[in-house]
Amino acid sequence: MKYIKSFIPCCLAISFFGCVNNAYTPSDEEICFTRDVQPVIDAGCAKSGCHDSTTKSAGIALVTYSDIASVEAIAGIITKPQLEGGMPPAPWVKLSDEQIAAITKWVDQGSNNTTCDSLPLPDSSSITYSKHIVPIMNLYCIGCHVQQGAWGPKLGTYEDVREEIENGNLLSNIQRKPGYVPMPAGRTRMSSRDIRIVEMWSGAYSK
Ligand code: HEC
Repeated sequence: MKYIKSFIPCCLAISFFGCVNNAYTPSDEEICFTRDVQPVIDAGCAKSGCHDSTTKSAGIALVTYSDIASVEAIAGIITKPQLEGGMPPAPWVKLSDEQIAAITKWVDQGSNNTTCDSLPLPDSSSITYSKHIVPIMNLYCIGCHVQQGAWGPKLGTYEDVREEIENGNLLSNIQRKPGYVPMPAGRTRMSSRDIRIVEMWSGAYSK
């Protein structure tokens, strides 16, 4: 029943909120290529007519990890003002300050092919709502769950999130247990590391 009930609102939610850009600023130790770099380069640079594998503008493709990691000057080029040759060129929108900061940190850390799952898990006693859970909710959930209504419960405050942890829905949904509404709805999948962090925070591991 839950699946059937969720189908129509999910489709609407995806079409209305699919493009919500939740600025997410990872801390130094949390940068990972597949989340913080690849999607930004994909949307901002690897477009048809620019740096996709067919056009290869200026001889540069920015599609795969090795394409991106081999452009040593990438952090400088995205940081430069557009009038001075910064990329992407006008009229395309410059990358946001958060995106530039994350890519610059990734280069400083050695341009590694990291996924979020390869990052070490935080110590369970150090996990807090504001440092760990808020960024996860912002990244995966808030686009749809900012208000209560057709889009399910609100997940914007500690109390909202705690309530959904306590009634069992939030964990069962992100763990994609049979019979529960799989979350996040749509194409995005939470990394297993982020699921573990929510589980650890909710006490599921310490019980
Ligand atoms: C693309 C939109 C979208 C995203 C992103 C999304 N949700 Fe949902 N969520 C929905 C909709 C729509 C419903 C209502 C489904 C229903 O009632 O059948 C819902 C329902 C829920 C519910 C209540 C389910 C129940 O069994 O009553 C929870 C809890 C939830 N979502 C958690 C999350 C969490 C946690 C995230 C992030 C990891 C997330 N959602 C991301 C659209 C979304």
